[in-house]
Amino acid sequence: MRTPLVAGNWKMNMTRAPGLRLVEEMGRALAAVRGVEVAVCPPATLLEAVGRALEGTPFLLGAQTMHWEPHGAYTGEISGPMLVDLGCRLVILGHSERRLYFGETDEAVGRKAQAACAHRLIPIICVGERLDERETGKTDAIISVQVRASLRRLEGTAGGSLVIAYEPVWAIGTGQTATGEEANRIAGLIRGLVGALAGPSAADGARILYGGSVRPDNIREFVQQPEIDGALVGGASLDAQAFATIVRAAAR
Ligand code: PGA
Repeated sequence: MRTPLVAGNWKMNMTRAPGLRLVEEMGRALAAVRGVEVAVCPPATLLEAVGRALEGTPFLLGAQTMHWEPHGAYTGEISGPMLVDLGCRLVILGHSERRLYFGETDEAVGRKAQAACAHRLIPIICVGERLDERETGKTDAIISVQVRASLRRLEGTAGGSLVIAYEPVWAIGTGQTATGEEANRIAGLIRGLVGALAGPSAADGARILYGGSVRPDNIREFVQQPEIDGALVGGASLDAQAFATIVRAAAR
């Protein structure tokens, strides 16, 4: 049985005081929750402060991106060992906003996934089709290319702790979502690809999340699907009560 995971992606939001208030309120709202893993992914500037606030709680600290090299002349970048040093356990990789606005390629995501696993960070690898790709029937081909590129450099052993988030680009921040059945079908496709690339136990252990306008009123539609193991939540993770409701709905 896979333990569901709900990860909150704060994106480029929050300064210290409101960020810490959010974590505190979230902690209170979720004090009794069981049967689900919860990760908080604040901007890099808040990793240390939020990490401290999460000490002694079951909540995990995650980052929103990283570089594949451990150190070096890469101005503005942050490496895996730096994230580990701050207590990060996970890192979001290949988010569509990074692909779209910062030119992150499939090749870069593959390098980052390899580096994350080497530093024992759990990668949350994001894949998803754009609206034009969906409308021209390319969804499955795009997902397949993205998943293959992300896993190409991974050793089989990384499979058990893999997290892949299916986030249709047209659903992110738009209020539109895939249907539960569509998301489940793509999650199944992703699991099949993980199996073909990394073996059956990797496929069994990999957690596949849905992301894209997840809210308290639609989370059930996704987490009741057999192939979906939780959610990657953007906007709604900035509201402690909304996020807590989503987490509780995902618990098994
Ligand atoms: P959203 O973002 O929940 O605001 O649509 C999801 C994401 O980008 O991970």
